[in-house]
Amino acid sequence: MTQDELKQKVAHAALPYVKDVGIIGVGTGSTIKHFINYLADIKGEIEGAVSSSEGTTEHLKKVGIPVLDLNAVGPLQVYVDGADEINPLKQLIKGGGAALTREKIIAAASEKFICIADGSKRVDVLGAFPLPVEVIPMARSYVARELVKLGGQPVWREGCVTDNHNHILDVHGFSIAEPIALERTINNITGVVCVGLFAARPADIVLVSDGEQIITF
Ligand code: A5P
Repeated sequence: MTQDELKQKVAHAALPYVKDVGIIGVGTGSTIKHFINYLADIKGEIEGAVSSSEGTTEHLKKVGIPVLDLNAVGPLQVYVDGADEINPLKQLIKGGGAALTREKIIAAASEKFICIADGSKRVDVLGAFPLPVEVIPMARSYVARELVKLGGQPVWREGCVTDNHNHILDVHGFSIAEPIALERTINNITGVVCVGLFAARPADIVLVSDGEQIITF
């Protein structure tokens, strides 16, 4: 199976988790694109979705699923999203698609975060995937210097402007032994909007496609 077929397979496996939940939080990325295509098949059963990015909003609308403002709905029962890395504690690196801030907001506002990914995303220790950090543009160089002090090598994702009109630094060279502590430390750097470490609020259920199998933990 190709990586894309594995993404499609795991996206399909998430469908039972969104039955009868009313409004669904929907993430961003290539795995989620498959998930939205499957959602379209059951859209009669869905009240609407809260979207984590402009790209996802466009896709949801295209397939006829109403997109709702998070401020207009109560806490969400379920949020479904992909990840760039997943450790055994269900802590994640996210933000490869630059949507980390809205993704983190929806994860925080949801009772259950279902993470779906192909098997290549599983790691023992987070950090081989460069850690995305969304920053206020004028703070970019300052934040980069602070990240160097923490032992990282930040690289500006040039040309990328997030949906919130900010910039992204991708931090290489971290081997993240203590994800919650690092998340807190990076959050405390002035000018940081969001760090793509989902550790204090990890996923609740992870579905991973590994060949023909779906592994759940
Ligand atoms: C988007 O900003 C990311 O957090 C994605 O969820 C993550 O990059 C996974 O993307 P794929 O499903 O494309 O691998």
